[in-house]
Parts: sequence; structure tokens; C-alpha cells
Amino acid sequence: MGIISNCTASEIDQAADALIAGNLVAFPTETVYGLGGDASNEKAVEKIYKVKGRPTDHPLIVHISDINYLDRWAREVPKYAIELARAFWPGPMTLILPRTLNAKNFITGGQDSVGIRIPNQIIALKLLSVFEKKGGMGIAAPSANRFGAVSPTSVEAVEFELGNRLSRSDLILDGGICQVGVESTIIDCTSDIPSILRPGAVTISMIQDVTDLLLVAENIKLIKVSGNLESHYAPTAQVLLNQTPNIGDGLIALSDFKTPPGVIRLASPNNSEEYAKVLYQSLRDGDRQQINRICVMLPTGDDIALAVRDRLEKAAHNLKLRSS
Ligand code: TXA
Ligand code: MG
Repeated sequence: MGIISNCTASEIDQAADALIAGNLVAFPTETVYGLGGDASNEKAVEKIYKVKGRPTDHPLIVHISDINYLDRWAREVPKYAIELARAFWPGPMTLILPRTLNAKNFITGGQDSVGIRIPNQIIALKLLSVFEKKGGMGIAAPSANRFGAVSPTSVEAVEFELGNRLSRSDLILDGGICQVGVESTIIDCTSDIPSILRPGAVTISMIQDVTDLLLVAENIKLIKVSGNLESHYAPTAQVLLNQTPNIGDGLIALSDFKTPPGVIRLASPNNSEEYAKVLYQSLRDGDRQQINRICVMLPTGDDIALAVRDRLEKAAHNLKLRSS
């Protein structure tokens, strides 16, 4: 496994060749790092599941470089989905659409729909377009962490999560720190009305602004992505929500929240966007410092704060399961 820190054109070319040859390439996106493999190659996709330790009924998102390639993977794309794609791609949004024959069961977990995203990150977009020029159709990429663990937002975190599970011919591309910090908003577009399966940086009000359909509040359904009820996004430390920290506990809270004496401050973001960006790294820092309990003061609001609360509620849920 090699880490490529200086992603020049020839290095991107090498990474695209590795994907075409059926190897895995972990790469940066604006949300979190993805563990990429050729979405048309069953063996490569099997390897993704094995390296992550992820059950095969959890479908993968297919990444493409251009909206013009959407119909390779999706059919019967509703008008509102095209409006969303035009407004927010490249960007932190995944659309779930009825699949074409190219989206095989090994990608969709046997479902008749497929998740598609165009990421907004220069290395990811270059990798995708060079891969497509070489005949590839899409890069399947789940977050580059072990199943159930915290998603990586830096190359060091990818190495920590998967370094010893990747083989010598696999690669990791270094794109620095991810700008958004939490995974994409997932929008189910398989019926007349869109529903949000996972909140992210593309917020409810942003979606409402571009689709007439979502103007009625009742149409916004926040429903669970399959498997989401299980533990996810969980560090080793116990995550406690909105509880006063004790001496020796870690603390993540907005900057206006004072750190009590003896508490280890892990992050002081100034707003919800900053909160999302530093969240996963601060949870990792807590584990690195071997802190047993991390108290998290949840941000309020329906913008990206909703995504932060969603991930933290799942991280905290894990502990209830483990301690029960
Ligand atoms: O920001 C992101 O979306 C990152 C970057 C790498 O693009 N990727 C990511 O992938 O978070 P992953 O596999 O960790 O999470 C994708 C989620 C899973 O919970 C999966 O169940 C859901 O998307 N998903 C994928 N295809 C689906 C489908 N056809 N129907 C319903 N859910 C789907
Ligand atoms: Mg994930």
C-alpha cells in the first residue's frame, strides 16, 4: 500500500490505472475520504467489503465525474432529481435512483436502486475523469473506515483505519483535511416525492429552495438508511450527549461553552459548519489520548447541525448497545 502525497497528473494516472487493474484507491472527497474501487468489477467491490469488514447487503455509492454520465447508472430520473443534481453537483449530495443494468447486485446490495454522487474535490474529480477516459464507468466508494467506526477526514485517519488491511498494490491519495467533514446528504429519488435518508451539508432548506415539491413540510421524511440503526460513526470512547463533563472527560462543544476545570477540550468550533468539519477528528483525538468518555454538546438548528446530531446520536447509541 503506497501513500501518494503529491497528486500530480502522472500520479493520478497511476491511481486510475490501479483502479482499472482492480486494485483499491482511497481518495479524498469534500465530505470524507472514500475507499474506491471499479464499480463494474465484482472482485474489486468484494475487496472493498472485505477491507471494511462491511456486510454485503449495505449498498455502495457510485461516484462519477459528470452529470452527463448519470444515465449510465440511473434510469427514470425524476425532474426534481435533475434539478437537485444541477444545483448541488459536484457537491456533498448522493441521489438514490432506479438502477440501470450497469448497477449490478454487488453494488446495490440487491436493491433495484443505486446511489450516485459527483464529489466536489479536485483530486477526486481528476481521478474520476482520468478513470473514465481509460474506460471506467464509476468508482464505488464507501467511507474509508472499518465498518461502524468514525469516517476518516485526513489521510492519517485513513492509514489508521485501513493501512494494515490494504494490499501492496492499493493506494491512498492525500488531499489534506476534508472541507465538509461529514458524509453526503442522501436523497431518495425513487418516488414522486424526495426523502432525506441521511442529513448532510446539502440541507433541507437548500433542497426546498430548488424543488417545488418539497415546499410542504410534511413531505420531508427523515428516514433511516438500511443498517443505520446499528452502531455507526463510533469511537472507542463512550459518547455522552449534552451531559456535564467530569474531571478527565473529553469535551466537544461550540466555542461559547466554557471548559470546566480538569476537562479535556477536544474542539471549540465557532458554528455548525466548523463543528461538522472538526467532529470526526476530535473524536479520534479523544481515542488517541485514551479518554474514556467524551461529552458532546449538540449544536441546534436544521442546517448541517442536523447531520452533526444524527452522527452523534448514532455514535452514542453504540455505547448503549455495548454497555447493555
Ligand atoms: O460522503 C459520502 O457519501 C461518502 C464519500 C466517500 O462519498 N461516502 C459514504 O459512503 O458515506 P458509505 O458507504 O459509508 O455510506 C453510504 C450510505 C450507506 O449507509 C448505504 O446504505 C446508503 O448510502 N446507500 C447506498 N446505496 C443505497 C441505495 N440504493 N438505497 C439506499 N441506501 C443506499
Ligand atoms: Mg460510511
